[in-house]
Amino acid sequence: MRMFGRDTELKDLAALVDGPGDRSGILIEGEPGIGKSALVDEAVAAAAIAGLRALRTAGAETEHGLAYAGLQRLLYPLRRGFDALPARQFDALSAALGTSETDGEPSLHLVALAALTLLSDTAAERPLLVVAEDVHWLDPASAEVLAFVARRIDSEPVAVLATLRAGTSSPLRAAGLTLLPLGPLSDDDAAALLGSVARDLPDPVRRRVLAEAHGNPLALTELPTAAADLTDPTSTLPLTERLERAFSARGAALPGRTRAALLVAALDDGDSIIEILSAAKVLLGSEVDAEILEPAVTARLIDIDAGTVTFRHPLIRSALASAAPPVNAGARTGRSPDRSPTSRIGRCGTVRREPTEPTKRWPPRSRRRPSGPSIGVARSPRWNGPRPSATTPRGARIACCAPPNWPSTTAAGTGPNSWSAPRTHSPSPPRRTPPRTGCSAGSRTECAKVLRVSAS
Ligand SMILES: Nc1ncnc2c1ncn2[C@@H]1O[C@H](COP(=O)(O)OP(=O)(O)OP(=O)(O)O)[C@@H](O)[C@H]1O
Ligand SMILES: [Mg+2]
Repeated sequence: MRMFGRDTELKDLAALVDGPGDRSGILIEGEPGIGKSALVDEAVAAAAIAGLRALRTAGAETEHGLAYAGLQRLLYPLRRGFDALPARQFDALSAALGTSETDGEPSLHLVALAALTLLSDTAAERPLLVVAEDVHWLDPASAEVLAFVARRIDSEPVAVLATLRAGTSSPLRAAGLTLLPLGPLSDDDAAALLGSVARDLPDPVRRRVLAEAHGNPLALTELPTAAADLTDPTSTLPLTERLERAFSARGAALPGRTRAALLVAALDDGDSIIEILSAAKVLLGSEVDAEILEPAVTARLIDIDAGTVTFRHPLIRSALASAAPPVNAGARTGRSPDRSPTSRIGRCGTVRREPTEPTKRWPPRSRRRPSGPSIGVARSPRWNGPRPSATTPRGARIACCAPPNWPSTTAAGTGPNSWSAPRTHSPSPPRRTPPRTGCSAGSRTECAKVLRVSAS
């Protein structure tokens, strides 16, 4: 694979593998698809040339609850060296990795000491590069052990290289590793990368992909595939499954009510917090204030500023809208539900603002700072704290586009996966009030009814 840009980062990584005893390591932090693994691969290749042995592990969502699963993956190639460990460390490590009959929980401290001894002894023969990818998904015990090791290898020929998604946490953050925040590619590098993967894109689509991708290499490589069949360059770009998964994952971990408000924000073409809160109120059937969005700010999905809600990446917005449960209109027509944000909005009538430029839609409308006036809600230039307004026509319209089984399943759920698995009804969904009379199926006719009611 040809790398575009990243000269500074590659220099830092080259320095790390050239002198693994000089510092404990590097923690690369960045949004999904920004190129963390690509840099790791470059570092591992450089390490091989420099004569280092690389040991690798990676956090996996499915193994987050399995204690020491990440450590097991890292140390498995060294299992023949376990016998040389001091007896108590051997017992603890064997118990942790399930290679002994020992009952009971091993001491985390002893397991960490064993890992440190093993890695240091191995590195005495040949310097080591310890790679831990996606450490936000590592099981907590493995993450603690790696952090313990990272804090003690300054003088050893061992370097740690870890990756972490932005907005997530891990004990590796406080382990003395040098933080390497990975931002978007420069405009030139992004254009060069896009040119290398999709040479013949029509110019409007090319510009659209560049604007939507925001310098994210995954988006630059995946969006052209999704855009291949696009006949109307102004319509919403469909996401590939990988993009949708990457950018919606953090939304799934939020509280149900926050997810509901976030879905409303994703479906809304505007950014007024007052509008979003009023739509969330309709959707949830109860009063809401700005605190409902706080977890999404903490998770670095959105920013709230001066009365507006801004998604930190356009793809977060698209992915959240796409990953939410589909509007169920297909059940009536016999067609399968369409998950695209375009169809979701289109089915409910126009939730978009009145266009200020009626014909020219290129360059694409910014998803961040729309300029048109808000519909039905007075805009406040300075918003200072919670101020949910009464239901507005526009709020009702936005809420109407949300799936009909909200909030009874998804929005009310608190489990991490209820964002993506809302279609089975929970045993006894606690519905507070019937919030959206007239738009239970999200159909155009029923939404129109809501609009007439709320406009009167
Ligand atoms: N600088 C680059 N030049 C060319 N291609 C790149 C560059 N960086 C990343 N890519 C490509 O972009 C895609 C996404 O990159 P990568 O998998 O490294 O992202 P990531 O940050 O590890 O994502 P995730 O958080 O999902 O693990 C990959 O196909 C990768 O090969
Ligand atoms: Mg990766």
